[in-house]
Amino acid sequence: MRKAVFPVAGLGTRMLPVSKAVPKEILPIYDRPAIHYTVEEAVKSGFSQMIFVTSRGKEAILNYFDRDVELEEILMSKGKREMADFLRQLSSLAEFVAVRQGVPLGLGHAVLQAKGIVGEEPFAVVLPDDIVLSDPPLLQQMRDLYLRTGKSVVALYRVKKEEIPSFGIADVEIKSDGLAVIHDLVEKPSVEEAPSDLAVIGRYILEPKIFSVLERTSPGRGGEIQLTDALRVLAREGELLGLIFQGTRLDVGNPVGLLRASLEIARKRGIEV
Ligand code: UTP
Repeated sequence: MRKAVFPVAGLGTRMLPVSKAVPKEILPIYDRPAIHYTVEEAVKSGFSQMIFVTSRGKEAILNYFDRDVELEEILMSKGKREMADFLRQLSSLAEFVAVRQGVPLGLGHAVLQAKGIVGEEPFAVVLPDDIVLSDPPLLQQMRDLYLRTGKSVVALYRVKKEEIPSFGIADVEIKSDGLAVIHDLVEKPSVEEAPSDLAVIGRYILEPKIFSVLERTSPGRGGEIQLTDALRVLAREGELLGLIFQGTRLDVGNPVGLLRASLEIARKRGIEV
């Protein structure tokens, strides 16, 4: 399993006005673009082809992972070898591929755009709004679970009661520490209706079968093709597992989360803030 799909074609409305001019995936978490952290997690987890589902105005994402030989040479001539080396290794982290989503018709529709490139292999879907800090990396744990069971896997995270209405929540049967069979998913339930406090976060290992399910999925909430609706089909067939994740999750899809993540990551690198 080597392909990881990054849907980055959304409008990023929570990050307006800045996302009008700059893709939110390029906004800095301390000193690196947000997308850097999730690509790094995928690479550390053994994925070697990063497939970005992009849209108009998102060119900066691919440019970041390109070589800039001129800049590297200037840095070298100024004695800034460490930064020159850092920039050079970005392009060799993985193979970077882009496919377009012409109209933002939802996350499910974005994933479907990668069908031709993914083909008949199991693959990861990674949402760069969620930065996950754990050792071993979360995607690697999920990949291992897939390889053991042959079933699609989503990442689950215990959220506080008051956060439940902002997430997709899983109806689960806990099998062992960290492992659950998912029976159903409920999108943004009230606290009373919620079947658990386990929220789906932005990491998925999916069987290629998901593409045919997505093709049959009609537009749901907001007229968009929802990935959650397709996952519910897998769940009802007993084909969906949840890995209950213990590490830190940073939501960088909104301004306060971005600020918090910057502070957290800077501190982890020993910077006084
Ligand atoms: P969100 O629902 O969080 O939307 O998408 P968004 O555009 O990123 O941000 P807000 O809510 O307007 O602020 C979840 C993920 O799915 C991608 C987004 O880029 C994000 O990574 N997505 C969403 C697409 O690629 N295409 C779509 O049509 C919708």
